[in-house]
Amino acid sequence: MARRRQIYEGKAKILYEGPEPGTIIQYFKDDATAFNAQKKGTISGKGVLNNRISEHIFTLLNTIGVPNHFIRRLNMREQLVRQVEIVPIEVVVRNVAAGSLSTRLGIEEGEPLPRTLIEYCYKDDALGDPLVAEEHIACFGWASQDEMNDIADMAIRVNDFLCGLFAGIGIRLVDFKLEFGRLWENDYSRLILADEISPDGCRLWDMTTNEKLDKDRFRRDLGGEVEAYQEVARRLGLLREDANEVLDLEQHRRKRGK
Ligand code: TMP
Repeated sequence: MARRRQIYEGKAKILYEGPEPGTIIQYFKDDATAFNAQKKGTISGKGVLNNRISEHIFTLLNTIGVPNHFIRRLNMREQLVRQVEIVPIEVVVRNVAAGSLSTRLGIEEGEPLPRTLIEYCYKDDALGDPLVAEEHIACFGWASQDEMNDIADMAIRVNDFLCGLFAGIGIRLVDFKLEFGRLWENDYSRLILADEISPDGCRLWDMTTNEKLDKDRFRRDLGGEVEAYQEVARRLGLLREDANEVLDLEQHRRKRGK
């Protein structure tokens, strides 16, 4: 098979040209970065788990009418998605104080917030994705007012849905990051949810023990990263017999040279 054209390589994913116009393939790597890529590592098997978890969540979001870029999973590490023009804003939704919010405002980690908080960061690695106000977004034209309204509405819907989904499996959704993209149809564009939703971009705490089941295990050198991601997948019902099934399957495929 001819080598596919690589469009972009990010920190955790590679994007390839898709089989039909307007589609791209997202390949999920095992690479992990933190603190704007100052810390780098590998979490063996992470890509397989994130591909599966993100597929599951985007499929569910589609059924409740949150438009998103997911089309179908292709294999253990790849999914076919719609090509969009990514809005250069990281949308962070918070229910409980943690991470940079706690550091910035001196709020103890784990303190529930009086209301859901949406924050925006400008997507620019060289600047370290700085926190920006809606006024900056309007001033520099990164998104229109209509787009910002759609983003906030969708972010709240996603948060409500995910809070319930995770609460049902004993997990507190502390915070998470979303990205949106423009889908162009002739001269018009509409916003859809893009990127991924996985333990890489969420804080997920066990509801009874407060154990961290997300990338903070890597950021904070807690160890047990892949086990935590597997636990999330297992509770979502994505791993059948035992927690290693997905990874065993991949190793088996590799041995067969597929
Ligand atoms: P923060 O506390 O570091 O600002 O992160 C808030 C949430 O957003 C957390 O769940 C991790 C996620 N996030 C990303 O996925 N990518 C990023 O670049 C950053 C800064 C945060």
